[in-house]
Amino acid sequence: MLQKKVLDLIQDQINKELYSAYLYVDFANFYEDQGLPGFAHWYENQADEEVEHAMKLRRYLIDSGESVKLEAIAKPDKVFKTIEDPTKAGYEHECYVSSLIHNIYGTALECKDYRTMNFLEWFISEQAEEEKNASDLITRMNLFGKDPAGLQALDKALGKRED
Ligand code: FEO
Repeated sequence: MLQKKVLDLIQDQINKELYSAYLYVDFANFYEDQGLPGFAHWYENQADEEVEHAMKLRRYLIDSGESVKLEAIAKPDKVFKTIEDPTKAGYEHECYVSSLIHNIYGTALECKDYRTMNFLEWFISEQAEEEKNASDLITRMNLFGKDPAGLQALDKALGKRED
């Protein structure tokens, strides 16, 4: 059994990860509308990863003898004006998610919940990678996105993302 403070934050994080998936499906939809299926594919894969994160947290709660309670997932409310906007919003969102993970880790530390701290180490590393991927995408967009041929090549490259 987990201490209530830690349990509540992990329950909430499951919701946040599922919201992240929902958000990235929204990004993918935007890019489909823009005629950029490679970008859409990249964000579809990102959405799949977010569901995996939620399921990993769910499994941890179950294996800790806890019941999992699901809450409503909020509607994504970002309005995009340019094809660069989702890449920037994605980076900001990942930084926010990192702060949530760090907050759970800090709370586990306060509670001397060393098992949860150990479990969360995977998420801390994963968030570093998520932030880097999101930041790299902004860099690539800045380098290639202004030129139609460059944008087409970037879209093609992003369409090859496998995981
Ligand atoms: Fe599950 Fe992108 O953080």
